[in-house]
Amino acid sequence: MVLYFSGTGNSAYVAKRIANLLLDESLDLFPKIRAHDDSELHSDKPWVFVAPVYAWQMPLIVRDWIANTAFSGSKDVYFVITCGQSIGGAGEFARKLCEPKGWNFKGCSKVVMPENYLLMFSVPDEAQARQIIAQAEPVIDAIADAIGKGEMLDEKVGLVGRLSSGLVNTLFYKCFVSAKKFYVQESCNSCGYCETVCPLNNIHLVDGKPQWGDACTHCCACICRCPQEAIEYGKASVGKPRYLCPIEK
Ligand SMILES: Cc1cc2nc3c(=O)[nH]c(=O)nc-3n(C[C@H](O)[C@H](O)[C@H](O)COP(=O)(O)O)c2cc1C
Ligand code: SF4
Ligand code: SF4
Repeated sequence: MVLYFSGTGNSAYVAKRIANLLLDESLDLFPKIRAHDDSELHSDKPWVFVAPVYAWQMPLIVRDWIANTAFSGSKDVYFVITCGQSIGGAGEFARKLCEPKGWNFKGCSKVVMPENYLLMFSVPDEAQARQIIAQAEPVIDAIADAIGKGEMLDEKVGLVGRLSSGLVNTLFYKCFVSAKKFYVQESCNSCGYCETVCPLNNIHLVDGKPQWGDACTHCCACICRCPQEAIEYGKASVGKPRYLCPIEK
């Protein structure tokens, strides 16, 4: 079973492509994470987790959900991590996640996809995004091929990667990840869509306008999925295009 979490569609696209090639089912973890649903899952085929990298690790909400959920059937587990550039030592941490579960860690591969971290960086326009995705497709297909053959996925991890995914990741969540800078512009038409796209249920409309609570993982779903592009994040997002995977939107 191919399980995925995706803020802006990149990992959803990669997961569905892998599932198609493996003739396996794919499962979107969004409703499960949002509902704190950690009920048991079963698959006789290997588990394949697909998620974006957040500060050189799988998102904390995905790691926590995997740790808390019971899985029966296959013990073979693969990780496929999408990124704008690098996943650092994410594979090493994925391996550690497997230990208490008695899983056979079958490796972790990266897929470079368009950058989506609008709250910190610029994101590509649609034409640039399509080019990056076209370059990613042979990589995705090779990963699916290796999984289908039961081979190990191999991503080299150096000292810098380990540091980035360890200490820097912890500091990143402490120092940067907060919803405090979100605000909404006049163009908001009170449609309420942003409430429904947050994996942490962190957005609620008050008097027709969204308000953000304290639980945020910077997934960029709210700011990128607002149909009016009415959401901003401090000055960082002003004037920038929003990003959604062009194949998934
Ligand atoms: C909070 C956050 C942190 C990110 N950190 C990294 C990173 O450390 N390295 C990197 O190459 N890309 C990073 N990115 C980019 C995403 O991992 C990448 O665009 C990913 O494909 C987005 O997947 P999605 O569309 O499935 O959400 C980050 C994005 C976000 C939102
Ligand atoms: S999705 Fe955009 S337009 Fe709709 S309520 Fe939220 S901020 Fe307003
Ligand atoms: S508030 Fe927005 S950026 Fe934060 S977790 Fe929810 S959807 Fe993602």
